[in-house]
Amino acid sequence: MAAVAAVLPNNAANAASTLGASAAERGGRYYGTAVAANKLSQTAYTNIISAEFNQVTPENEMKQDATEPNQNSFSFGAADQIVSFARARNMRVKGHTLAWHGQQPGWMQNLSGTALRNAMINHITGVATHFRGQVFAWDVVNEAFDDGGQGARRNSNLQQTGNDWIEVAFRTARTADPNAKLCYNDYNIDNWTAPKTQGVFRMVQDFRSRGVPIDCVGFQAHFTGGSSYPSNFRTTLTNFANLGVDVQVTELDITNAQPTPYANVASDCLAVARCTGITVWGVRDSDSWRSGESPLLFDGNGAKKAAYTAVLNALNSVPPSSPPPSSPPPSSPPPSSPPPSSPPPSSPPPPGGCSVALTVQSSWANGYVIQPSRVTNTSTSQITWTVTVTLPAGQTISGFWNATQTISGQTVTYRGVSWNGTLAPGASGEFGFQVSRPSGNTAIATATCSR
Ligand code: G3I
Repeated sequence: MAAVAAVLPNNAANAASTLGASAAERGGRYYGTAVAANKLSQTAYTNIISAEFNQVTPENEMKQDATEPNQNSFSFGAADQIVSFARARNMRVKGHTLAWHGQQPGWMQNLSGTALRNAMINHITGVATHFRGQVFAWDVVNEAFDDGGQGARRNSNLQQTGNDWIEVAFRTARTADPNAKLCYNDYNIDNWTAPKTQGVFRMVQDFRSRGVPIDCVGFQAHFTGGSSYPSNFRTTLTNFANLGVDVQVTELDITNAQPTPYANVASDCLAVARCTGITVWGVRDSDSWRSGESPLLFDGNGAKKAAYTAVLNALNSVPPSSPPPSSPPPSSPPPSSPPPSSPPPSSPPPPGGCSVALTVQSSWANGYVIQPSRVTNTSTSQITWTVTVTLPAGQTISGFWNATQTISGQTVTYRGVSWNGTLAPGASGEFGFQVSRPSGNTAIATATCSR
């Protein structure tokens, strides 16, 4: 506690006063919470979420038993409630989770082999299609490794359908929701030297090298609830990030909400450029799946606990405009490109303080999708970016996301939104747009970036 109290905000007068705002100021990160739909009628609950957090994960409402209670009969009411709540407040939503051995509806538990494999594919397609464009990321596969000493796959009914079930899940999710980040999520993978961590690492490394579409890894971080907080957690985050994936702390809670580890987890994430956010697993202690351990940042009355202050101070102690202490983020290659061990040749930074790279994700006779448009801050100070897109004659915009848009003839101006518009040095943000064109007009839009 003493060590935490000694860490003062870098500029107390300007320090952000909420967890979400402070995280957002630091490379557009989020500090979020798990949310339960059946509590959204409680103003004490929603007031805290609205004030403090800028990301939510439905705690149970997007799981298999909730979204497909009977085979091929989908049910999205509770999850839709959470998504509407979050979107009305400009919060990101993480989808949790598409394929898991836990919380399967009874009919799924009774399937095996090809029937289960096909049911998994149908489930992922149904759920990811419904929420397409509304979640920034999916926990595609959850907890697929066992806790033994071999770093092996968990022997679940899904695993018994064939070792390729995880990559099939990721490919299916990519097809259903091409713009969402696709994550693997697990607990007890925080300690770099643990066999389970190594097993997951090898899988992600393999997926990246073979072009299996994985974009992120979630570390649940239920500390002292089965996992302890290891001193090498930052190393683990860094090593996974170096595979070319984002990393996130996805279900954080700590027995008795000890302030020091809570603060240190925040510092660990801020130290890794590709650690894009932290989610705590519930709002008040009374909301926690292990409420007897009082592991959250707010007590049962909604009052801020010591851990809350420790986290806010830890976030605010990193200057908003300073680069992350680790190396600049590797560019996120499209799924089929080689792993980051063979980086593209470097070129001198462009003069405008930022660069923009357009990727044609898909195209057809009458249109194409640019996703991502990746903006990178190439300067040494924080920037707010503007991207100017020049559309070839005869082409028009038919959709855009994660930015604001102004159109003047063939010139289209994009500016970032709250969570990607301001970038620290070396940081990147992404947005996308779709273009309509007459058949035969095959030219592609170009873009420049300015600060
Ligand atoms: O909603 C019913 C209620 O109607 C019924 O009366 C009651 C009786 O037990 O159960 C209620 O459902 C419970 C549900 O939470 C909602 O509260 C389930 O029994 C209970 O099993 C379920 O627990 C959830 C758990 O996942 C199940 O695996 C927790 O809320 C949820 O926090 C927890 O979250 C998981 C992550 O998804 C994955 N990582 C681990 C994490 C903690 O276990």
